[in-house]
Amino acid sequence: MADSEVVLGLLNDGNYTLTEEMDNADIVLVNTCSVRENAEQRIYGRLGEFKAVKSKNPEVVVGVLGCMAERLREKLNTDEARGVGQIVDLIVGPDEYRKLPSLINNAWHGEKGVAVKLSRVETYDDIVPLRTSGISAWISIMRGCDKFCSFCVVPFTRGRERSRDYFNIIKEVEELGKRGFKEITLLGQNVNSYRYDKYDFADLMKTVSEVDESMRIRFTTSHPHDMSDKLIETIASKNNICKYIHLPIQSGSDRILDLMKREYTSSHYRNLINKIKASIPEVSLSTDIISGFPTETEEDHRMTLEILEETRFDGAFMFKYSPRENTPAWKMDDDVNDEIKSIRINEIVMLQNKISAERNQEMVGTVHKVLIEGESKKSSDDFHGRTEGNKIVIFPKENSIPGTYVDIKITRTNSATLFGHIYKNHKGVKS
Ligand code: 5AD
Ligand code: SF4
Repeated sequence: MADSEVVLGLLNDGNYTLTEEMDNADIVLVNTCSVRENAEQRIYGRLGEFKAVKSKNPEVVVGVLGCMAERLREKLNTDEARGVGQIVDLIVGPDEYRKLPSLINNAWHGEKGVAVKLSRVETYDDIVPLRTSGISAWISIMRGCDKFCSFCVVPFTRGRERSRDYFNIIKEVEELGKRGFKEITLLGQNVNSYRYDKYDFADLMKTVSEVDESMRIRFTTSHPHDMSDKLIETIASKNNICKYIHLPIQSGSDRILDLMKREYTSSHYRNLINKIKASIPEVSLSTDIISGFPTETEEDHRMTLEILEETRFDGAFMFKYSPRENTPAWKMDDDVNDEIKSIRINEIVMLQNKISAERNQEMVGTVHKVLIEGESKKSSDDFHGRTEGNKIVIFPKENSIPGTYVDIKITRTNSATLFGHIYKNHKGVKS
């Protein structure tokens, strides 16, 4: 989303406007993810839809942007089997978005374009992203990743780590505050590696949180190897930094963590979680899990279930291992067959859903500060918003307004959502 907003910012020079209707579009761009095979399959499905648009209007310029463009390069142009070659005009990797206006111009004249060079310096620091939400904003504070976890394609598709100018990030936050934004999420593949001059990520979080105390500050993602005490203290000490930490563990087995090149052990992770819980008792935690990594045994799998039981995360993103070409793990035998991967991931999902439901249930009767995001998809009488712990809450609108905070008393929950009613609105009036 953040990258798409940068692309829209780059194209927002008066020549182009955004349309919601694909039939009205002269240019169709799809920003892509390569992290797992099924992400790429979905893009191929989407390109199939663009084929219909292109056959109605052959003038339409179709572009594939982002990680899949980077990874597949010319292959996308020659993929006759899927018919992709005939419909894709532009292939633009994550560090070459600045070339889009000229590539689009050339494409009008029938010239296909491929721009996939990775950069050591590009941060799009001077580009103002075109944000369509007026409430929450993402800010990329760094790009790329130097971690090279053995399963992960990101270091190859998004290139080396580089941090954005500290002072320009602060300036951007100040401007968003003036425009009425109420939530800022600082983004990076590994935010703990942020460094600009003498400033580290904890310094950045502290300064950003002091810009406007009516704005909530979030961040994602942290790597358990690099999460510092200083950052934990900063989160604990600032009221408007959300007490929510996403800390991907991937596996509970030390042997698998080692093969994954994650650079920490399960006991390091456990200690870190204990430290976080001691400093921030009300913290909400979530994680990522990969199930079925090469050589994973039933015993390794049990260790993952154990650490989920023990930590009691509020939520988790859970994936079957997906081999990615050219990564170090690609050379390992993908020896956990798909049937076993399915059984294991089901066990993980069932356990985590039970824990998430229980964690949510514990919140019934308590009051939480919620930032209202908009109308509930299911009922026009209700709004949806999020707690500090990043949980979605549905509640009757009464006379509340999106983009403001309300205190919500939680009355019922399930594993994914909280339900409640307004306890106090932003003016402190009880209802
Ligand atoms: N297979 C499955 N999951 C993966 N992830 C990254 N690479 C892979 C892969 N090859 C997951 C990790 C990471 C999240 C963003 O995606 O859990 O934290
Ligand atoms: Fe991929 Fe995250 Fe590891 Fe970087 S830290 S290689 S983005 S899993």
